[in-house]
Amino acid sequence: MSKSILITGGAGFIGSHVVQLFVEKYPDYTIVNLDALTYAGNLENLKAVEGTSNYIFEKADIQDESALKAIFAKHAITDVIHLAAESHVDRSITDPLAFVKTNVFGTVNLLNAAKEFWKDKLSDHLFYHVSTDEVYGSLHDGGFFLEDTPYDPQSPYSASKASSDHFVRAYANTYKMKTVISNCSNNYGPNHFPEKLIPLCIHNIKTNKPLPVYGRGENVRDWLFVKDHARAIDTVFHKGKEGETYNIGGFNEWKNIDIVKLLCSKMDEKLGREAGTSEKLITYVKDRAGHDLRYAIDATKIQQELGWEPSLQFEEGIEITIDWYLNNQDWLDHVTSGAYQKYYSEHYGD
Ligand code: NAD
Ligand code: TYD
Repeated sequence: MSKSILITGGAGFIGSHVVQLFVEKYPDYTIVNLDALTYAGNLENLKAVEGTSNYIFEKADIQDESALKAIFAKHAITDVIHLAAESHVDRSITDPLAFVKTNVFGTVNLLNAAKEFWKDKLSDHLFYHVSTDEVYGSLHDGGFFLEDTPYDPQSPYSASKASSDHFVRAYANTYKMKTVISNCSNNYGPNHFPEKLIPLCIHNIKTNKPLPVYGRGENVRDWLFVKDHARAIDTVFHKGKEGETYNIGGFNEWKNIDIVKLLCSKMDEKLGREAGTSEKLITYVKDRAGHDLRYAIDATKIQQELGWEPSLQFEEGIEITIDWYLNNQDWLDHVTSGAYQKYYSEHYGD
């Protein structure tokens, strides 16, 4: 049966790579991208698939029950891949309720819309919830996050994502919805909004602005190239077992300060600057409140059971990423000036 897949948050960083992969790889599927176009949603991320016959964009908020109902019916949605979320930890510290509204309420709203539309045929349809490793909390004494590591979220962002994961499991248990969840480590790559560490540093190095390193820069993150996450989502969607959870990561841990220094040295080379020039921009700033020390994913299950593994080493991925930002100055200009928000009305009308 041909599928009509609702991908939420498809105009964001990871969602745009997932939408592009599905539209191009599966011409028989209809891909409906539902996105509210918050500050993080940018349709310029999807220029490659705009106008493709199996791609449809719907501007809607997952908090809007009637809009969801109408979209399920209009496109006869067969499956959901849910990525829409508020995603930035620092914003969750200043405005936790925005995270409850989208990540918790919005997810439950979406579950309800799917449950109502699929009714007594729930087992024919998949609700795939995309989540984060941050739900497991912060590692202090070595070790890795496994699929059965107890949830211990430490920030308003991770608490809201943990809550949404619990609701998805509750719907599977209570209503027998067919669900799957994946929890991924930090992503990097093209289309990443420059409020997050890697794109922010690339932008600031280029424009000679300070590089704000929180605390002493000793916190550790486990980085995965975004297109490898999109490939993993494709794998879990097609091969994942009902009710299961899959951790996604590349066994690639870095201290923040080491990543920032790596970006500085690579960009000195690319920009023809004397070695050591950009490192002078490093500025240690006040630490993030409740800053998680270390995240590290054990991705053995998805590798062994579903045969997925990352296609790129970090060295290659970071080169591709820096080059993408240097070659896509328009994208960066539009994002930093806010001009990207006009794109919707220019292309789709008001
Ligand atoms: P992002 O912030 O770049 O994009 C989020 C998208 O969701 C945007 O297009 C935004 O417009 C849309 N959106 C936000 N609120 C909405 C609402 N109420 N209704 C409809 N659309 C809405 O986020 P991202 O980094 O691409 O993350 C996508 C998903 O992957 C999130 O669920 C996030 O928790 C998860 N995740 C992210 C990472 C990471 O490193 N970025 C790692 C693991 C998991
Ligand atoms: P971020 O990209 O916000 O992702 P997350 O908080 O979800 O892991 O931050 C990655 C790491 O970099 C995190 O430990 C916080 C740190 N950081 C800085 O040191 N300076 C910055 O300006 C930002 C945005 C993050």
